[in-house]
Amino acid sequence: MDCNIAVIPGDGIGPEIVTEARKVLAKIGNTYGHKFNFTELLMGGASIDVHGVPLTEEALEAARNSDAVLLGAVGGNVGVSNWYSLPPELRPEAGLLKIRKGLNLYANLRPALLFEDLREACPLKESIIGDGFDLIVVRELTGGLYFGERKTVVEEGIRKAYDTLTYDEEEIRRIALWGFETARKRRKKLCSVDKANVIDSSRLWRQVVKEVSKDYPDVELSDMLVDNCAMQLVKDPGQFDVILTENMFGDILSDEASMVTGSIGMLPSASLGRTKLGLYEPSHGSAPDIAGQNKANPVATILSAAMLLRYSFDLEEEAKQIEEAVQKVLKNGYRTVDIMSDGNTLVGTDKMGDLIAGEIK
Ligand code: IPM
Ligand code: MG
Repeated sequence: MDCNIAVIPGDGIGPEIVTEARKVLAKIGNTYGHKFNFTELLMGGASIDVHGVPLTEEALEAARNSDAVLLGAVGGNVGVSNWYSLPPELRPEAGLLKIRKGLNLYANLRPALLFEDLREACPLKESIIGDGFDLIVVRELTGGLYFGERKTVVEEGIRKAYDTLTYDEEEIRRIALWGFETARKRRKKLCSVDKANVIDSSRLWRQVVKEVSKDYPDVELSDMLVDNCAMQLVKDPGQFDVILTENMFGDILSDEASMVTGSIGMLPSASLGRTKLGLYEPSHGSAPDIAGQNKANPVATILSAAMLLRYSFDLEEEAKQIEEAVQKVLKNGYRTVDIMSDGNTLVGTDKMGDLIAGEIK
């Protein structure tokens, strides 16, 4: 198969982790006879430095014309980097929001699973971990607070900031479909998370999700308030299969879900819409404090490449090969610093990538 992949290394540790994911994809290409054509694009701070904006129209168009987009991470140190003295719409993160919206990638899938060999990296007690957990957050990605009108004004000498949280029923319905479809392929349990005891958009969310559920009698639907969900994720993560939620709640809960797996450095994500074109990126950020030191964990990006093969190209066997290669390397005791524990072998970013690529045969 011929696959045209736009690659956005981005900022901070982005270039290092993307290099490792490309290494693994190249190995898959050799092994299975696929041709991966990579086109590098600038986004985030890297684009600001060259073009003065975090994503040019040309780069967005090039991403739109590709089959899939592989992204490292964008952003720098807020308060340290000059990028943050720019107006908000010119900062690195604005590029990420623009590409998500511009490609209509409204469904963000963030799996959080505890690797058996990483139990000791999990911050939860053995009694809570139990048989482990394997959940996925389905996060709405192009609506809500992130894209509502906002402004900061001075009223009667007092500074005031507004952010608006809006959802229409179509936006809710289409992400609910992703939630139910995802649950149907897994353990058939969908937990819809909202704040329906306080906010209107959540009350509508709950109604629409219930309506959609009529077409999915095989999927067990439950509703949970977001504050309770935050608590349940550390109390009993094993109860969850699919968590369906709006943009901001999903941002927060997915970081929490990833941390209970041991490290945010392990978790991939896929952002999808109505077509096969998807954007694949680790759930974590650009970690500028460790950039360029060969310390970053490339696994989340490598697993994102596996999701890319699965969702954009239907290459299920190849995706599984990558996931199994990651598990083997962990089983053999190799760890980057974020997941290191006694008795294991500490390796850097590039070595981790070599080991994973080496397990693909
Ligand atoms: C994420 C990130 C982004 C988000 C930031 C960088 C804008 O935290 O992908 O979770 O909030 O969506
Ligand atoms: Mg986030």
